[in-house]
Parts: sequence; C-alpha cells; structure tokens
Amino acid sequence: MPLLRTGQAGLPGTSANVGLMPLDSAPNAGLQDPLRFHRTTQPCAVVIFGANGDLTRRKLMPALYRLAFEGRLAPGFVVIGISRTRMSDDEFREHMRQSVAKYLEDSPFDEELWKSFAQGIFYLSGDVMSAAVYEALGEKLRAVEQSRHTGGNVLFYLSTQPSQYAPIAEGIGTAGLTKSDGWRRIVIEKPFGHDLVSARQLNDRLQKVFDESSIYRIDHYLGKETVQNILAFRFGNGIFEPLWNRRYIEHVQITAAESIGVEGRGAYYQEAGALRDMVQNHLLQVMATVAMEPSATFSADAVRDERAKLLRAIRIMTPEEVPANAVSGQYGPGRVGGEDVSGFRQEKGVDAESQTGTFAAATFFVENWRWAGVPFYIRTGKLLPKRVSEIAIHFRSAPLEVFRNDVGSNGGGAPNLLILRIQPEEGISLKFVSKRPGAGMTLRPVSMDFNYGASFGERSPSAYETLLLDAIAGDATLYTRQDMVEASWKAVQPILDYWSTQRFAFPNYEPGSWGPVAADEMLARRGHAWRRP
Ligand code: BG6
Repeated sequence: MPLLRTGQAGLPGTSANVGLMPLDSAPNAGLQDPLRFHRTTQPCAVVIFGANGDLTRRKLMPALYRLAFEGRLAPGFVVIGISRTRMSDDEFREHMRQSVAKYLEDSPFDEELWKSFAQGIFYLSGDVMSAAVYEALGEKLRAVEQSRHTGGNVLFYLSTQPSQYAPIAEGIGTAGLTKSDGWRRIVIEKPFGHDLVSARQLNDRLQKVFDESSIYRIDHYLGKETVQNILAFRFGNGIFEPLWNRRYIEHVQITAAESIGVEGRGAYYQEAGALRDMVQNHLLQVMATVAMEPSATFSADAVRDERAKLLRAIRIMTPEEVPANAVSGQYGPGRVGGEDVSGFRQEKGVDAESQTGTFAAATFFVENWRWAGVPFYIRTGKLLPKRVSEIAIHFRSAPLEVFRNDVGSNGGGAPNLLILRIQPEEGISLKFVSKRPGAGMTLRPVSMDFNYGASFGERSPSAYETLLLDAIAGDATLYTRQDMVEASWKAVQPILDYWSTQRFAFPNYEPGSWGPVAADEMLARRGHAWRRP
C-alpha cells in the first residue's frame, strides 16, 4: 500500500519523528488475497480438544468471539469443546463467557453478541484416549450439521498435551470423522515433536489420517501483524531490498525477551526449555521471514517454499562449534521491581537440579549467496528486564569515516540500524546519524520512527484471530509445513545434543538481567554487542 509521509517534527538533535499514514483508508491488504481481511467464512464447527486449558481460555475463545464480533464467522458457527472435566453445555458457556470477558484485549465485551455466539457452543466431556469420545463427537457433528447447517465443515484444534496429538488424530480417523461432504482440517499447536526424530514420527502418524494439505501446524508468531509486515516492508518497497544482503548488512539480531517467568508451566517448561519453546519454532520462522528470497507469487506454497529453502540453508553446527555459538542460561532467585522472585529450580514441577535453560542464545549462518558470512544472532529468555520482541538489522558502517575528526563523543560513526519491532509498540525505526545544530560538525544518532498504532489508528487482529480465520478459510500461508519443521529441528539439534552432554553451572543469570555473560561473550568474539532494546 502506498504510504504518505505526514510530518516530521521531532525533538531537536535527538530524533526526527516521521508518521506514516496509508493514502487510502482500506485495511492493510494481507498476503495474496486482497479480500483477506474482509473475509467471511463458510459455516463450520471448530472442535477444540483441551477445551478446559489455558490456551482455550486466554487465546482461542477470545479470538473466535472477536471474529464473531467483526462479522467474520458465518451464522450457525459452532464450537465444540472437549476435555475430561464433567460439565454441561451451559456450564462450559459460562466458563467461556468469563474467560472471554477477562482476556479480550482492547475491545469491548458485548453481552448481546455473546448470547447469540454462545448458542453455538457445545461441550463434550471424555477421555481423548478412548473411542467413546469420538463416537459422541460424531453424533454431535451430525446433529449440528442439521441444526446449524455447518455443511459438514470441521476444524479440529488440538490444544492438549503434545503426547496426545497422534492418538487424537488416530481417534478421529478410526471414527471416520475425516470423511464428509464438507472440509475437515486439523490444527496442531506447538511443540511439533521434541526433536527431529519425534517430529518425523508424529508427522507420519498424522499423515496416515490427514492429507498434508489439511494439516495446519500453528506458529503464532507468523500470525503477528508485525511479522507479516516484514514481507510487506521488504517486498512492497523498492528501496530496502537492494540493501538486504551481505554487502550492506553486517549482522542481524533477533530478540524475544519476556519479563515473566514460567508462570505455572514449570512441568512443561522443564521438558522443553527456551531453545525448544521459542527458537526452534517462533524465532527461526521470524529469521526465515527476514532472510527468505522473494517468492514469485504470494500463494501459500510459494511463500512456504521460500521460507523452507531458507531454513534448509542454515548451516548445521558441528559439536565442536556449539560452545562458541550457543548459550544456555537459567535464572536463579532474586528481586525484580522490589519483589522477591523464586528461581526456576524452585518453580512447581521443576527439578531442584534442573539443567533446563530459561534463556537461549545462538548464532546461525545462512549458506547462500545473499547471506554467506552474516551472523544471525538469536536470543530469548524468561525474566529478562522487559517484554520486547524485535529484529535489529545492523548495516555496515560507511566505508570511510570522513567526519572522524569532528564527530561528537556521543555516537557519531554509529552504524545504521533498522529495527523491526514485533511487540510491544509495534513499528519500525531507522537509526542514522545527523548533524547536531550549531557550529562544528558534531554528529548524533537519531531515529526515524513508524508506529503502527499512530499511523493506522486501528486495532491489529491478534495472531490467533488471523490464524484461526485463515485455517477456517483454508489459507495455510502462515502455517508451517513439515519440511519447515524438520529443517528447523535440524538447525537446533546439534545444540540440543551437545547440551544434553553438559552439566551447566546453573543458575547463571539474575532475574531482571539480560541473561548470562556468556551471551555477551558470544557476540564479542565477532566484535559485536547485543542491542539493549
Ligand atoms: C509460546 C511459548 O509459544 O510463546 C511461551 O510457549 C511464550 O513460553 C510465548 O511465553 C510467547 O508468545 P508472545 O506472543 O507473548 O510473544
């Protein structure tokens, strides 16, 4: 979409704020489909396994309600929740009403709309490991097909323990629930496998029941507006792409910092750790989006082919290379913002001697012509100083420091930086140096900022809204494919293998700090330093 510069008043000498506004008022067109954000969808039933879980309460139901609120869901839309807990339809509806009212971010809760939305909500209690629940589900699906005209379309959403993914898919298959005149799709939450071998095994079992084209592996980072905007930024503008390569870019930093700890998910997290929880999936997908080649079209497969190619081009570390290129950290007890915080090992469900990392950093290289020799530094961690996810593109410095004798001590000669902020305060900043007003040639770094909220003045859909709508509409562009999942497991597997042979001196970082010193040393070896976002 063409952008219009609307102003540039800034604080003298410190920043030049440039607002960007769309020239027309049309909503941001999505990937390949100009009607993407005007979509209304076919009638269907969304079946949520794990309906009593945190994800359903916090993310899925608020997202579905919000889609209903915006008129994106067809009348007759159905949600069937399944979990072990015994509940009536009405009890489940009330439960969900409370959750939606609580977790609906930045939009009002409308009781009247809820009443009509809730008429399509049903609940089944049962053990997903037994056949009975699939028979009951089959009956329920036939009933809603009649009563609410869902056309036999069903989206199965697996939000359960990962160990139940394959048995649930098989239960669905054995009960004949993949057969219908309508469409049947399955959405699988991460983690998709625990390592490369288990990811392949899971996939084999899923593909015995569902076609690859009906399997939607969700990675909610790909649904974030700002991650999608990376493609618009790179390929919708003429000026950045010519610079987007090893000639002009020195290195790239991808950070996903969280200020919270594991928040009651100790048992899951103890098995996963930061590398599996964030890097193998979300952050490698972000890296692929930053570094992929332009695709010839923006069809689901063309975009995913390019992401997959990039992931396959990541250089696989040898065991000897791991210590210099990957860092694991774990927070200990401490104080944050005047409050006592317990260490990871003191969390419920966590082993007192746990070797699981709550912080991970790694250096990856992409072996292709565009990126050879450019380090991609990735880091993520719990209980870091703030919640911030961003990509920082560090450009090479000017070839000659012509102002070196005039430069002020505070920042002249700083390399250009492009910051793509994923969250919070979604936006893009370009950092460059500017002459400070007055006599002499003193340079100061300044920033040109685009802020989503200020420029578009409209709310961005949550990642789950975008992704649920896409799955219902049959658009898999923002979902990961098996080959992508395998390629990213391959990239992290040497690190996991090496770490499994180590005994770390944990804890090794204070809660509320930027992680272990070793993460700084990892960059310092190449003459770089982490940005403090
Ligand atoms: C999830 C991880 O996939 O992503 C969590 O399991 C993490 O540990 C979360 O907190 C971060 O997501 P977001 O959207 O808050 O950055």
